[in-house]
Amino acid sequence: MSNEQAVAILISGRGSNMISLIEQARGYRVALVASDKPEAAGLVWAAAHGLATWSLSPKGIGKVAYEARLDAALHAAGVGTIALAGYMRLLSDDFVARWRGRIVNIHPSLLPLYKGLDTHARAIAAGDAEAGCSVHVVTEELDGGKVLGQSRVPILPNDDADELAARVLAAEHALYPRILSEFVMTPFDRVRDVALTLPETEELIGKSVFTVAGEAFVKFDGDATMTVRRVEDDVDGSTNWTSIDLTGDIDWVSVEDRIARSWELTAPAHLLEAGGR
Ligand code: GRF
Repeated sequence: MSNEQAVAILISGRGSNMISLIEQARGYRVALVASDKPEAAGLVWAAAHGLATWSLSPKGIGKVAYEARLDAALHAAGVGTIALAGYMRLLSDDFVARWRGRIVNIHPSLLPLYKGLDTHARAIAAGDAEAGCSVHVVTEELDGGKVLGQSRVPILPNDDADELAARVLAAEHALYPRILSEFVMTPFDRVRDVALTLPETEELIGKSVFTVAGEAFVKFDGDATMTVRRVEDDVDGSTNWTSIDLTGDIDWVSVEDRIARSWELTAPAHLLEAGGR
């Protein structure tokens, strides 16, 4: 795994999102759980589950010294990505700049709506029909960085803030691990992940080729191009293979579909009958 895929989770409290990130880790590994609150309940859970933990209160030493120690702990753990999960302290602009583009957060609203605190009460007071949560990149602007993914839940008549918070929290637990996986995985990691979940596939290590029953169905080259078996509506009809570009904004639903179709065009009959996908 690359450095980006070694993740630190920063918490201040119970850490229910942290638990989801650990239990549903795919494409990343949690290298450290860190907290500004040595008494945070989530730290106890993490330590009991064999994770490396670190904590320090900024009280008494000040923000600059605290963040310098945090930064050192993150580097010592080989961390390349930071996931804030109920971390209730604002990171300084300097810290954010040092980790630019490598910090993500989950926020309990449909950003850009309701930045800051009391999101659920504000959504109810506004008479909104829906609430939700957002995973976003952390920038110097509070809850202002690029939104990577969102999940929506209804606001029911007579909901109070706690009831709504519980519904949103359940959505957070499903959303955050999925978006963090997507954030840290390279296109090749994702292609591999999809290819290897299909029945009886193998990877020709070092060649970036995936096979079923010894026949290639996905090839990946270093320029982020995936080659799959051609289907009828492909424009390029000159070969049995077609190239799909995996740079820029990638439509992963259609990429996953192309990998599965290529597998179907390659797999022997007995595997197709067994169901394929
Ligand atoms: C969650 O509502 C999250 O959206 C917000 O803080 C809360 C943390 O809960 N950032 P937990 O500690 O993950 O249980």
